[in-house]
Order: sequence, then C-alpha cells, then structure tokens
Amino acid sequence: IGNFMSYNEKILDHYEIPRNVGSLDKNDPNVGTGLVGAPSCGDVMKLQIKVNDKGVIEDAKFKTFGCGSAIASSSLLTEMIKGRTISDVTQIKNTQIVKELSLPPVKIHCSVLAEDAIKAAIHDYQSKQSKGGH
Ligand code: FES
Ligand code: FES
Repeated sequence: IGNFMSYNEKILDHYEIPRNVGSLDKNDPNVGTGLVGAPSCGDVMKLQIKVNDKGVIEDAKFKTFGCGSAIASSSLLTEMIKGRTISDVTQIKNTQIVKELSLPPVKIHCSVLAEDAIKAAIHDYQSKQSKGGH
C-alpha cells in the first residue's frame, strides 16, 4: 500500500500541478528546443532550455500533449535540470525518472520521451552555438 500511495501522489502532484509549463523564444540563440513524439502512442512533448554563458541551464519549459505519466515525466525533468550544466544534464537517464515517479512498465516509454526531449533540446542549442561561428 505504501508504494502504491506514493506512486499515485507523486505522479498526481506533477500531473495536477505541473512545473514549468510554457514556452521560451525558440529564436533566442541561447534557447534549445526539443520536439519529440512517441511512436507507440502518438504523444508529443516539447521541451525547451535556456542556457547562460557558463553552460548552465537557467530556465526550462515544456508542453506535453500526452498521458499523465508523460506530463509528470516532463515536469519532473524540468525540475531536475534547472541550475545544472549542459554536460551534467546529458547524463540524465529515463531510468531516474522511472525510479522517481515509480512508473509501471507500460509507462516507461513516457519517461523515454522526456529523455529524448532533453537530448533533442541540447542538440538544438549546441547546433545553434556552432552556427554562431565562434
Ligand atoms: Fe498516449 Fe497514454 S497512450 S496518452
Ligand atoms: Fe504514451 Fe505516456 S507518452 S502513454
């Protein structure tokens, strides 16, 4: 019962009061945007990061069109990455989200969506930086 309750509470908490919902300016050179979809269910997640000149993620926003676990995963992820460096955040694995939210096996792909989204956002940010020509 204990595990069951904490599973529900943590998911519901992030589902009902998602953190960092919204958008950042995708044309800002310091903003990276990741847009990914889950082939198995058709859900879509957009995750954006704003990186300062020290390589630290100072802001993160998401919009997720999907199930409660996908919303909870992206909400949790934005909380995990704020204030951390890009190189630090590339180490984040979906298994950390699975563990934190106690996601059941059928919902593991929802956390994979979040890992894919942050990777895509970092990739977008880095390609923008290299296009800057420095
Ligand atoms: Fe996509 Fe869960 S199957 S909403
Ligand atoms: Fe498809 Fe959650 S993202 S069921």
